[in-house]
Amino acid sequence: MNEDFVVTPWEVKGRVDYEKLAKEFGTSKIDEKLLKRIEKIAGELHFMLRRGIFFSHRDLDWILEKYGKGEKFFLYTGRGPSGHTHIGHLIPWIFTKWLQEKFDVELYFQLTDDEKFLVKRELSLEDTTNYAYENILDIIAVGFDPEKTHIFTNTEYAKTQYKLALKIAKHVTFSTAKAVFGFNESSNIGITFFPAMQAVPCFLPSVLKKKNIPCLIPAAIDQDPYWRIARDVAPRLGFYKPAQIHSKFIPGLGPSGKMSASEPKTTIFTTDSPDIAEKKIMGAFSGGQATAELQRKLGGNPEICSICQYYYFLFEEDDEKVRKIFDDERSGKILSGEHKKELAQRVKKFIIEHQKKREKAKDRIEEFVLRD
Ligand code: TYM
Repeated sequence: MNEDFVVTPWEVKGRVDYEKLAKEFGTSKIDEKLLKRIEKIAGELHFMLRRGIFFSHRDLDWILEKYGKGEKFFLYTGRGPSGHTHIGHLIPWIFTKWLQEKFDVELYFQLTDDEKFLVKRELSLEDTTNYAYENILDIIAVGFDPEKTHIFTNTEYAKTQYKLALKIAKHVTFSTAKAVFGFNESSNIGITFFPAMQAVPCFLPSVLKKKNIPCLIPAAIDQDPYWRIARDVAPRLGFYKPAQIHSKFIPGLGPSGKMSASEPKTTIFTTDSPDIAEKKIMGAFSGGQATAELQRKLGGNPEICSICQYYYFLFEEDDEKVRKIFDDERSGKILSGEHKKELAQRVKKFIIEHQKKREKAKDRIEEFVLRD
């Protein structure tokens, strides 16, 4: 792993060089040709594809080829319920919803209350299951189709998943798991088995429907190590290898690093009150100059300005407007105070809307959830 940044399923540190990371992980970049193929089927390109927020993949070309021949895939994504949902988590979910709509496909959504219990010393199993149900409200609020979306927590859907987990686990040696995840002598034995659980939904629909169905996983690239295991095992169990489409990370509001629940002051949670969200944004790192005068003279750097990055990742769908926001930052036309105020209004509006949908979701949980 490169010295300047670290990306694992449990930790993302430093300023990620995505070119390097894709090379290290051995994934493929999403190129123009692939974008054209998606656009041809979907009729448009989601802004997260146009901007290269979803930038890398494994076997996406194969998924599209199968789809073109009438063989539909299903989507699989998830959440590790270690706390409330933050807007970083919404990136892959909003994109997954778009995929579901455009390709008219089913979605399996796994909540790993087992994983987060095993890796977070401070959380009880009751805590992670409770957070799972809090997170489910956010998932439903994103707007997935209840007819085609199946959400489950691992502890409540364990019986259905366990046999397949065993079959997967038998093919994964400790030395492979150690190399992929960095387990060591002091790792608890629960977490060394867990990667088999996260691999299960890659194949579960094929088992339930008694025919091989291609799987496409949208997620940020931190989850990729899991899919290496799943892809390794797939042919040995007679399944297709799961395909992936990987996103970059929306940064936190501080000077570096991805948005992460372990940095609550620089993270916007979907459960934050609109005023708290505003306060967090007003205190954000903008990467601008020390004084207004210098900012006007020298300008700032939109690549490291978290305000610019928020527009880019989520809060402005119009590419032209994003370009203007970046230009204004670069030229010093906009000062960071005004810039933050405008974004704060946008984010407040987003949170108010999301929280309304989240409230309504409380009566809809049973439309989505699978249990044994
Ligand atoms: P978790 O809960 O860490 O993250 C949930 C999803 O959010 C993505 N993500 C981000 N995306 C953009 N910007 C960020 N700052 C950011 N932070 C997190 C993650 O990549 C993930 O897609 N072990 C998993 C749960 C899981 C899962 C899956 C995830 C089980 N099955 C299948 C994806 C696909 C976890 O703890 O995710």
